[in-house]
Amino acid sequence: MKILSVVGARPQFVKLAPIARAAASAGVEHTIVHTGQHYDPMLSDVFFSELGISAPDVHLGVGSGSHGVQTGAMLGALDAVFDEHRPDWVLVYGDTNSTLAAALSAVKLHLPVAHLEAGLRSFNRRMPEEHNRVLTDHAADLLLAPTATAVEHLRDEGLAERTVLVGDVMTDVLYQVRDAIGDTPSALIDRLGLEPHGYYLATIHRADNTDEADRLRDIVAGLAACDRPVVLLAHPRLVAKAAEHGITLSSGALVEHPPLAYADLLSAAMGSRGVITDSGGLQKEAFLLRVPCTTVRTETEWVETVDLGWNVLVPEARRIPAAAARPTPSPTDVTPYGDGRAAERVIRELLDRA
Ligand code: UD1
Repeated sequence: MKILSVVGARPQFVKLAPIARAAASAGVEHTIVHTGQHYDPMLSDVFFSELGISAPDVHLGVGSGSHGVQTGAMLGALDAVFDEHRPDWVLVYGDTNSTLAAALSAVKLHLPVAHLEAGLRSFNRRMPEEHNRVLTDHAADLLLAPTATAVEHLRDEGLAERTVLVGDVMTDVLYQVRDAIGDTPSALIDRLGLEPHGYYLATIHRADNTDEADRLRDIVAGLAACDRPVVLLAHPRLVAKAAEHGITLSSGALVEHPPLAYADLLSAAMGSRGVITDSGGLQKEAFLLRVPCTTVRTETEWVETVDLGWNVLVPEARRIPAAAARPTPSPTDVTPYGDGRAAERVIRELLDRA
């Protein structure tokens, strides 16, 4: 069997790592196509080297642009790649513009498409990721759902027959890397002179939070007013938008820091008092590490993190300091995101249908 993975943005490289490993152990031929949506070394190359993923077989070098320009450039380039490789399965990941472009190109070439992380919904139609998820799920032949909630959403949309619950592949990689880190403290603590469990770790990059000057200014003020240092891992989009709007990212409690590689991110989260974010992946990573999370959004796709008390949604920026300082919730050992062996299941499902 021959599978072809299309990835392009940071969270997709994390998801690719366990899939690449499981494909290799099953003796499955695996071609990796990188669209080039993310091109900064700290958003791309570092994940390949750190997580032991072989270099992409094909790199489209598409880069940044408006949604239409970026997605269109990928679509234009992918037809020829798919035609040349003719895989048994095209595997697409998550909800980025790279996901949608690959699903669309493959389905039109009559290549079977599997969507990993299918069925997540925010029900917020302003989010580009929501457009990408819904359209990709309806285009794909096999929907690999990470959670029981995702399975329900797919059933509600009439897609039950194409759906399989496999668990969450980010859990696979998180468990492996967490165990490798062990008790080693985060290098960030020494470097920035922080107290262990005496700081918050923050990321903000969603268009809804960064693109309007007033919204971004309110969020930065909310973070700056926290009761402990807030290490803000600044995504290039945030840096670009803050500069455009004339907003300083290091003020009050805020300490601006470049993005971290995966293991450094996990150990920085583990060493923190809490995470403040608008990232989908980091909400779930915080839960899996049992670090309280404050999510600067009106809704989340990972509803289990909220239901279990480890995540609170705080769309009003002025409420960030109080939410972040809330007491740590009571322990739980439930596993809504699977057992850390989702990638093996994915490869098995693909093999069964090849
Ligand atoms: C994309 C995904 C989002 C995901 C995020 C993870 C879509 C619609 N969004 O958002 O779901 O959570 O990746 O990070 O696909 N930039 C750089 N260097 C890079 C990449 C981006 O400087 O390597 C800057 C550019 O100014 C660019 C902006 O960031 O215009 C936005 O990048 P883009 O890839 O369009 O979306 P993300 O915000 O990263």
